[in-house]
Order: sequence, then C-alpha cells, then structure tokens
Amino acid sequence: MTELREDHRNMTVVLDLLDGLIVEIEADKDPDFEMFDEIMRYMTVYPDAVHHPKEDIVYEQLREARPDLTEDLDHVPDDHNDIAHLGSLLRDEVEAVVAGGAVRREKMIEDATAYVRRLRNHIQWEEEDLFKRIDKMLDAAALQVDVSEYEHIKDPVFELEIEAGFRRLLASLR
Ligand SMILES: [Fe+2]
Ligand SMILES: [Fe+2]
Repeated sequence: MTELREDHRNMTVVLDLLDGLIVEIEADKDPDFEMFDEIMRYMTVYPDAVHHPKEDIVYEQLREARPDLTEDLDHVPDDHNDIAHLGSLLRDEVEAVVAGGAVRREKMIEDATAYVRRLRNHIQWEEEDLFKRIDKMLDAAALQVDVSEYEHIKDPVFELEIEAGFRRLLASLR
C-alpha cells in the first residue's frame, strides 16, 4: 500500500506537468510535444502496466477475503481498462504530432483534459475509498498479497532515473 500511494504521488506530479502542457497548447505557445510523448509513454509502461495490475490483485484479495467490504466496487477493473484505453488514444495522437502529422488542436486539448480529469478522479477515489477498505482488511488480518509478477518492474522515471527514453520528463521534474 505504501508503494501504491507513492505511485499516486508520482503520477500526480506527472499529471501536473501534463496540465502545464495543456495550458501551453491552449495558448498556442509551442508546447514540448516530445515531453508530452514521454509522459504518455510513461503512463503506458508504468501506471497502466504495473500500478493498475497491482491494484487489481489487491482488489481481488479484498473481494475474496472481505466480500463485506466490496459494496459498489464492481467498476474497478473497468476503470483501469478505460484509463488505459484513453491513454493509448492520446498517446497515438501525440505520436502523430511528433512524427509531423496533423491533429486538431481542439481535439488534443479535449482528449488530454479528459484524460487528466479521469485519472485524477480515479486516484482521488482510490485514496478516499478503495484504499481505506484495503487498510481495514489489512488491519483486521495481515495478508500475504502476491504481487511478485510485477514487483521487479521498477518505475522507469521515479525509481531508475537513468532511463534515456525519459530525458525531458526527468529534466522537468528536477
Ligand atoms: Fe487504480
Ligand atoms: Fe491507483
């Protein structure tokens, strides 16, 4: 749970950067699309590929061990799929721009804004609701939750900080 909360803090910092880029696109200010591209790539290789699957495993445990705590939670895996889907659409748009293609500015602003809002709401809901239920489960009985499938995968930006593919993102965070 400590790691999942840490991931949320890191994702929030990256979403703040993305908000800054949206403001620049809105103002027609020659935004750094390479950084936008790195951000979307980061979202695909870490939050979508590691953070959300880990949460799905913990959530599965909650459903098995404490069905009494899972009221109104059926939407959780769908949320993760929706966020991954929105993210990959946005990533395609940004990659097209970086490759010199034309993407409507309004469409990009709309999609990026929707993505940030969706992910922020999701994180907030997890912190205020889902994670509290999981804390309750863990307080009542210490559980072994096996996330070994994902444990070895480091966050390429916040843990490794040497990943050449995220130069601009790292420079902006410093
Ligand atoms: Fe999540
Ligand atoms: Fe999360």
